Amino acid sequence: MQFDDVILGRRSIRGYKPDPVPQELIEEILGLAMRAPSSMNTQPYNFYVITGKPLEKIRAGNTERMLAGVPQSREFRTGEAFAGAHRERQIGVAKQLFGAMGIERDDKEARQDWVMRGFRQFDAPVCVIITYDKVLDGSDDTPFDCGAVATALVNAAWSRGLGTVINSQGIMQSPVVREHAGIADDQVIMKSIALGWPDESFPANAVVSERKPVDEAAVFVGFEE
Ligand SMILES: Cc1cc2nc3c(=O)[nH]c(=O)nc-3n(C[C@H](O)[C@H](O)[C@H](O)COP(=O)(O)O)c2cc1C
Repeated sequence: MQFDDVILGRRSIRGYKPDPVPQELIEEILGLAMRAPSSMNTQPYNFYVITGKPLEKIRAGNTERMLAGVPQSREFRTGEAFAGAHRERQIGVAKQLFGAMGIERDDKEARQDWVMRGFRQFDAPVCVIITYDKVLDGSDDTPFDCGAVATALVNAAWSRGLGTVINSQGIMQSPVVREHAGIADDQVIMKSIALGWPDESFPANAVVSERKPVDEAAVFVGFEE
C-alpha cells in the first residue's frame, strides 16, 4: 500500500471478525510503529498486547463495573466536557456512527448497547494497552509521544489489512486492566487500541469521519513575501 492509501483509507474499526491475529504480525506492526519520533528519542511507551482469556476477563470486568456505576478511573488527567466546536465534532461523528448502525436518537437500549461495545473493546480479538514509564509522569511530552506511536501503530496495522480503534473506553476502569494484563507498577496506563481483522459487513466500519479544512487549522506565516 502507498502512504496515501493508508492515511486516506484508514478509519476506526468497531466491528471485528473473531479470527486470531498472529503474534509475529503484531510484532512487525509494533516494530513499524516504534519508528515514530519521540522527545529526545526517549521512547517512553510500552505495549501490553492481550488476547484470549485475559482479554475476556478485562471485557467482563469493564462491563460489570460500568453497569454497576463505578466511576471511571483513568490514570491520566482528563479535561472538562467538550463544548463549542469540539462538542459539535464529537456529536458529528456520533451521528455518523449511529446513522450507519440505524440507531435512533431515542432508542436508549440500542445506544446503551453501543456504549457497552466500547467497554468490551468492540469484541476485537486483540487489545493493545499503551503504557508509559511512570518516572516521566508530569511531562506533556510523554502523552505526546504515546500519541505519536499510537498513530503510527494504527496506520501500520491498516497497511497490513488490520483494523484498529484507539479508545478511552477500554481503560476507563484501569484497575481491571492493570490486574488482568499484569501491568507493572512502574507503568502508567495511557490508552487502549482494539485490533483485529475488520468485519466488512459491520456498517459503522464504513464511516469516514469528517475533518475541518486545512485553512481552518493552519496559519501560514511569511509565505506571502
Ligand atoms: C485519544 C482517543 C480516544 C478515543 N476514544 C474512543 C472511544 O472511547 N470510543 C470510540 O468509539 N472511539 C474512540 N476514539 C476514536 C475516535 O472517535 C476516532 O478516531 C475519530 O472519530 C476519527 O475517526 P477515524 O479514526 O475513523 O478517522 C478515540 C480516538 C482517540 C485518538
